[in-house]
Amino acid sequence: MMTILSVLFVVGLLAVLARSLFFVPPELRHLPRVPILPLLWSYLRAEEENKRLRRLILPFADRKEEVVLVWALGRWMVHILDHKVGAEVFSDPGEFPKEDPPDDLLLWRLIGRSNILLSNGERWRKHSRLVRTAINQTLPIAQFAVLARRLIAVIARTSDTGEPVRFDDLSQRFALDAVGTTAFGHDFDAIARESEFVRLYNGIMHGIANPLYLIMPVLERVVPRTELTRRMQQLSDSFQGVLDEKRENPGPDMLTFMLKDVNMSDRELRDNMLLLFIAGHDTSAGGITTLIYYLALHRDIQVRARQEVLQVLGEEADPTLEDLPKLRYLTACIREALRINTPISYVVPRASAATTTLGRYRIPPHTSIVLNIYAIHHSAHNWADPFRFDPDRFLVAGSQKGVAAASPSISFGLGPRQCPAQAFAVDEQLVLTAMLLRACEWVIPENSVHAKEIQNAFSPFALSLPHKVDVLVTRR
Ligand code: HEM
Repeated sequence: MMTILSVLFVVGLLAVLARSLFFVPPELRHLPRVPILPLLWSYLRAEEENKRLRRLILPFADRKEEVVLVWALGRWMVHILDHKVGAEVFSDPGEFPKEDPPDDLLLWRLIGRSNILLSNGERWRKHSRLVRTAINQTLPIAQFAVLARRLIAVIARTSDTGEPVRFDDLSQRFALDAVGTTAFGHDFDAIARESEFVRLYNGIMHGIANPLYLIMPVLERVVPRTELTRRMQQLSDSFQGVLDEKRENPGPDMLTFMLKDVNMSDRELRDNMLLLFIAGHDTSAGGITTLIYYLALHRDIQVRARQEVLQVLGEEADPTLEDLPKLRYLTACIREALRINTPISYVVPRASAATTTLGRYRIPPHTSIVLNIYAIHHSAHNWADPFRFDPDRFLVAGSQKGVAAASPSISFGLGPRQCPAQAFAVDEQLVLTAMLLRACEWVIPENSVHAKEIQNAFSPFALSLPHKVDVLVTRR
């Protein structure tokens, strides 16, 4: 009898817990909704972001739904699936400010709140003016070329042994050195060696992504992970160290520029540094690996891109800022790689300030709203054959940069809060891949798990980053 009662008690408790965790607020029940069980199952078995989105969310976009309700990270959010609706919402950061993120989620504690990403109103304008100007003061093309040469030397050493090159690892190292040297004037020297910094950061991100804590962020209060928070503090202290060092040794980097602003506290500078570090390397690395992968898969496209590079740069000269707009086909390849394997699948949630209408649906105030970039990038209503890698779709006659003005390609977001480092990120990729195309040729090994389709790592934070991508490289 006691056993039956205990079982009933536990089942009842679980039912109450499940109801409070996954309960759909009545004011959102009129919206189309992704069923909760397949979503939870997807998180629990650590399914990759792009596969989950393709299976569970894209069908709503293909049915021309403008929005869909999705449960993630402890709450229901409205995902915008329509480019026009997205443009309306994201052009107005006053009406749709960034939502104050839940403190239980360690990701937000790591990034901090005193930075450009999570602030709103006047505070955001202050951060944005400074960070945007710092990133774009001079695009560090020559530094990208220095790092590309370092990377090519490492690749050549491996390829001479006949071994494949693990490209996602190398591109992460390259992107890290790119952001380290240009943003902080700090050389992690990650291309050449295993960096302590990177190991610490990767370990922290792995810990934060524990599925149990993602499904029940409240666990962080019940069973706090003290070792993980200690390592987060260690990372934050390391950034404070770089900041202190920069005060003593200024240079031509973004941080030196930001340090001149007397209105910025140390806390604000450190939070922005951490953000630039996080926002600036995984996304770029993911974009680079995807591009290398598709160029390996489609040899004809690789050959065409190489011909363009040789025509514009010749065999020897490093790319300059003036050369880059002439690499129209390679730019189209980069845009297409960013579309097909979108590094950031959806953006940081906004909260509606008042009742609003999105497409056909009424949305109550204080609803979490995100722009689902993946769905817009893969909807058959926006693109012919959306899962085919086809750079030509970005070669629009008369367009300077090979990008159509009204294109629903939104890898960098929409509106005033879109990525301030678009030029930085695209130029970084242009310089590296142009120099790689000139130095070598590459293919995917026949037995690769990526032979049919690119495989990404699991990420709970809307990132699609290729995982264990080996390529066979030969010198030209
Ligand atoms: C291919 C590479 C990249 C992609 C696809 C990308 C994508 C994005 C997207 C979609 C957003 C908008 C987020 C939102 O609306 O909530 C964003 C914001 C941001 N990105 Fe990037 N990004 C890339 C590279 C970089 C790099 C290299 C840096 C820094 C060096 C950077 C710094 C930032 C910052 C500071 C913001 C916040 C802007 C704000 O809230 O006003 N990103 N990025």
